[in-house]
Amino acid sequence: MKIIVAIIRPEKLNDVKEALFKAEIHKMTVSHVRGCGQQKGYTEKYRGHISQINLLPKVRIEIAVNDEFVKPTIETIMKAAKTGNIGDGKIFVTPLEEVYRIRTGEEGKEAIG
Ligand SMILES: Nc1ncnc2c1ncn2[C@@H]1O[C@H](COP(=O)(O)OP(=O)(O)OP(=O)(O)O)[C@@H](O)[C@H]1O
Ligand SMILES: [Mg+2]
Repeated sequence: MKIIVAIIRPEKLNDVKEALFKAEIHKMTVSHVRGCGQQKGYTEKYRGHISQINLLPKVRIEIAVNDEFVKPTIETIMKAAKTGNIGDGKIFVTPLEEVYRIRTGEEGKEAIG
């Protein structure tokens, strides 16, 4: 099991949600966050003196998946979230040790799906 965390542009959330739905990936947690990447939150056109980072609005999507869903989930997000411009986002993948569905007491593979 893995947890996939994608940081994307807020304006791409609908496209990503639609694409995930079509790929039969229906479970997710979405948060509105702020962040910056290697441009420190400024565009390449920025000419002023930079003394601190500029946090931009981003959307964070968390999806816990069984192993067979890791690749399709990543591919779907990569495709739907891309504009080709700086700030398109990042995807982080980490091992997920345990999952519990509170209502039924199910664990692991059963609790994710
Ligand atoms: N190393 C990182 N650690 C934590 N969050 C990150 C990291 N890199 C990017 N992010 C998050 O992802 C968002 C989008 O990053 P962004 O797409 O600007 O990455 P980048 O590395 O600067 O790539 P690009 O050059 O394409 O802009 C950031 O605003 C931040 O929230
Ligand atoms: Mg960037």
